[in-house]
Amino acid sequence: MIIASNFKTNHTRESTKEYLVKLNHFVKENSIKEEILVFPPSTALDNYNLHDSIKIGVQNAYPTDKGSFTGELGFTQIDEFDIKTILIGHSERRHILKESDELIVSKYNFYKDKNYKIVYCIGEPKEVRDDGLEKVLEYNFSQLDGIDLDYENLIVAYEPVWAIGTGVSATTKDIEETLSALRKSIKAPLLYGGSVKVANTKEILEIKNCDGILVGTASWDIEDFKEMVRIAHEI
Ligand code: PGA
Repeated sequence: MIIASNFKTNHTRESTKEYLVKLNHFVKENSIKEEILVFPPSTALDNYNLHDSIKIGVQNAYPTDKGSFTGELGFTQIDEFDIKTILIGHSERRHILKESDELIVSKYNFYKDKNYKIVYCIGEPKEVRDDGLEKVLEYNFSQLDGIDLDYENLIVAYEPVWAIGTGVSATTKDIEETLSALRKSIKAPLLYGGSVKVANTKEILEIKNCDGILVGTASWDIEDFKEMVRIAHEI
């Protein structure tokens, strides 16, 4: 199973280091074999000496080796830390930072060519969910346009926008129906994200076609994140 933590704009370099020391210790002590991905803020990127199960990824990067893209990181800056994992298409980047589908696809293609593990996020807004499953699927599949779904290092995260950071997760039925429909076209691991917390981790991880979780808010506390990893390990 894949358990991913997205720090978003939280934690500092120092607190990230403390978090990773605790996580690393926990993983070693308990011989955890799950795949754990941690996406810290860019100021906390580093070449940490971690157990093989834990990978550090970037929350965003520009599709360039280097160049004049003020405020952005490119491949050269990330590669310095031997990072090979990236989050692309997160709804906060799509909706708040106004990233276009075109830019998202170009990031995908660029980092695919670099052989990165790509956690590619899709998910519908509330008004689409209110229109029913057919519209939900149409919307989610449209976000996959231009993406090579057969890429071997792809992970798809289904994150309904209305469930992100709201404390209200999608229902088991909604998640199951959406993931089963996605599974018909996607061989890659499928994650669910959106208000996952300790209390609903087991229920969500037990959903058919759910290969893991992408957690924001509830993962920022290391004790809670360790507990979610432990639950995954015991399933
Ligand atoms: P959340 O965020 O767990 O705070 O809902 C999930 C995400 O944005 O990846």
